[in-house]
Amino acid sequence: MQAQFTRRRFLSTAGAAASVAVVGSTLLDVESLFAATTYVRRNVGGMSAFDPVITDYRAAIKAMQALPTTNPLSWAYQAAIHGTTLTNNLTAWNTCEHGSYFFWPWHRMYLYWFERIIRKMCGNPCWALPYWDWSSPTERQLPPMFRDTTSELYTSHRNTAMNNGSGSLPASDVTYAASFLFTDFTNADSTIQGTPHGAVHVDIGGWMGQVPSAAQDPIFYLHHCNIDRLWDLWLAQGGGRSDPLTDSTWKSQKFTFFDENGAQVQMNSCQVLRAAAQLKYVYEGEPPQVNQNCLRILVPPIFWIKELLFKIPGPPVELGPDPVSFPIDIAKIRERITRVLANKSQRLMLQLDDIETETQPGVVWEVYVGLPAGQAPNAEGPHYVGNIALFGSGIRSEVHGRRHKFMPASFSFVINGAIEESIRGNAEKIEITFVPHGVLIDGKPSGPEVKSKVKIGSASLVVASEKEKK
Ligand code: C2O
Repeated sequence: MQAQFTRRRFLSTAGAAASVAVVGSTLLDVESLFAATTYVRRNVGGMSAFDPVITDYRAAIKAMQALPTTNPLSWAYQAAIHGTTLTNNLTAWNTCEHGSYFFWPWHRMYLYWFERIIRKMCGNPCWALPYWDWSSPTERQLPPMFRDTTSELYTSHRNTAMNNGSGSLPASDVTYAASFLFTDFTNADSTIQGTPHGAVHVDIGGWMGQVPSAAQDPIFYLHHCNIDRLWDLWLAQGGGRSDPLTDSTWKSQKFTFFDENGAQVQMNSCQVLRAAAQLKYVYEGEPPQVNQNCLRILVPPIFWIKELLFKIPGPPVELGPDPVSFPIDIAKIRERITRVLANKSQRLMLQLDDIETETQPGVVWEVYVGLPAGQAPNAEGPHYVGNIALFGSGIRSEVHGRRHKFMPASFSFVINGAIEESIRGNAEKIEITFVPHGVLIDGKPSGPEVKSKVKIGSASLVVASEKEKK
């Protein structure tokens, strides 16, 4: 611990020194000194607006914005790699991965090359991307330097309340507890894509609310830096958690980016498994990184096999500004549910499919199972199971670029706890309830403004069982 602290301080001090000393041969000295060392991605929480990490980021954005869109190092080109509404589809444009198990690795690669470009464009060879730890109760507002209207870090294309400091992220939008429950990569990666990832996109709104514009907002990269950090933290939970190292598609699929000299580069997931060893960065305060390896698979990854238990005849339902619910008739399936609940290697899941809407709704829906009639929904109570937060998948207006065609969204939630609570009485029916929320205003829930209604096409109860695959 002591050693880590010392190195961290050494690096951040060196970072500060380098940013003032980027002249002549001093730069070369600093570069060779740090060539073999590790970058530390620091928490933006508590960071001053004059911290070199911030001032250098601003300088780089300014320089990148001055370049023509066709230059891979330009701000516009980098954002377009993630997504764009421009139709001239240059190399690697519109290649972000959502609704797939490439979500974590693709965004890790994207940030890695982006960070190298920022380093070059600001001239600080020690620069590392900061992360926005929105889960921390003290960091629920947009970091202050991103709200300064005179800064390169500001854009007016955001939710007004988030941008003026009165708005903050609701606790249920920033919790990753549900995704960390999963021991298999696919479920963890896909749950985290919804909440916190998608929910924070929706709450910031404006550019961040839509895939084709999200990466134009400078906060995008700090948001994703935290999502990337959660990949490390998820693995560090142990309990058999592993990347899908026996999945050859996951391991071999190549993605294209540009390095800091504007040269095309390609990368696959195997090249981004060990952040410190392969990409030379660690996160401030993180536990030791788990060294996964495509060639030496020490523990076979866990997979979860899903089987349909019961198709719920309730949907389609439409989500709008008011809470809606539909019942599950459990009289006939009570016994099967009880059996699943008793089996320690099984989970009962509520799966919602064929979810679609026209444009970004601007609202997140909380999902409850078995909420008793007349009881106020409470995301901290036992009946809350997760959120529906749409970003990309399921939004018709966001079909963009040559690689993307419309895909409805799906969400699944572990409901063991909520259903156990509900079947204790002898109820014949339990309700599935959807409650919309917007960002908090001055710390209080605000009346959500639903910009586009959402249709849930089908719902089912699914049993997920843990399986090891050799
Ligand atoms: Cu590719 Cu948060 O988005």
